[in-house]
Amino acid sequence: MGRPFGKGKKSKATRRLPLHLEHSRGRSQAIRLVLEPMRVADVEEVTALDRLCFPEEAWPAALYRSELGDELHCLYLVVRIADDHRPGSVVANAGCRLYGDQAQITTIATNPEWRRHRIAEWLLLHLLRAVRDAGVTTVTLEVRESNAAAQGLYRKHGFVVADRVTGYYEDEAALVLALFDLDDPHVWQRLQVGLQHVG
Ligand SMILES: CC(C)(COP(=O)(O)OP(=O)(O)OC[C@H]1O[C@@H](n2cnc3c(N)ncnc32)[C@H](O)[C@@H]1OP(=O)(O)O)[C@@H](O)C(=O)NCCC(=O)NCCS
Repeated sequence: MGRPFGKGKKSKATRRLPLHLEHSRGRSQAIRLVLEPMRVADVEEVTALDRLCFPEEAWPAALYRSELGDELHCLYLVVRIADDHRPGSVVANAGCRLYGDQAQITTIATNPEWRRHRIAEWLLLHLLRAVRDAGVTTVTLEVRESNAAAQGLYRKHGFVVADRVTGYYEDEAALVLALFDLDDPHVWQRLQVGLQHVG
């Protein structure tokens, strides 16, 4: 049976991208990213990112604040540019909610300028690790039927189509994707290999 998130969910990780920032004096520096729990102070930046990524379905700030207030059942993560002196800009975010031994991924988005660097994959795998540690066995989410990018991300990590809901979005059906048997060591081992690759 699942249990609420404990202190162990506060995962933090860093990753170096094979990309360089050019500096004024001709030097360049590898870009470092940090993945960490979303803070209330991030909400404004995250909602701006949502408006960019989900123009019709962006969450209002109040909804994020309410989710962040329910620490036992919600986990929201951001990826930001690492900065030694202050929190760097948020480039992606993702979150999920626990319902006993099930979890629902509620959002995942990467700034269009930062896509295809395995950032969403990094977030997804961290969420899956956290919910598995909380005793979750099944993870679900809804995705637009036309959203090939998101479906590709989830399918890559073993999600399958569990249902189709006509009219879920105003203009389109949703696919319900599910990852089953997260407590199965074989399923987890495959995800762990992914996590090792991505950071
Ligand atoms: C879906 C989204 C989060 C992916 O973000 P991302 O950081 O670019 O994704 P990643 O680089 O981690 O991609 C991981 C895998 O996802 C799949 N994928 C990502 N973008 C894809 C695309 N445009 N087309 C097809 N597959 C894609 C691939 O399998 C990829 O693995 P690969 O690099 O080995 O091919 C991003 O496109 C986005 O923010 N879209 C708008 C918001 C949205 O639709 N969110 C999902 C709601 S359910």
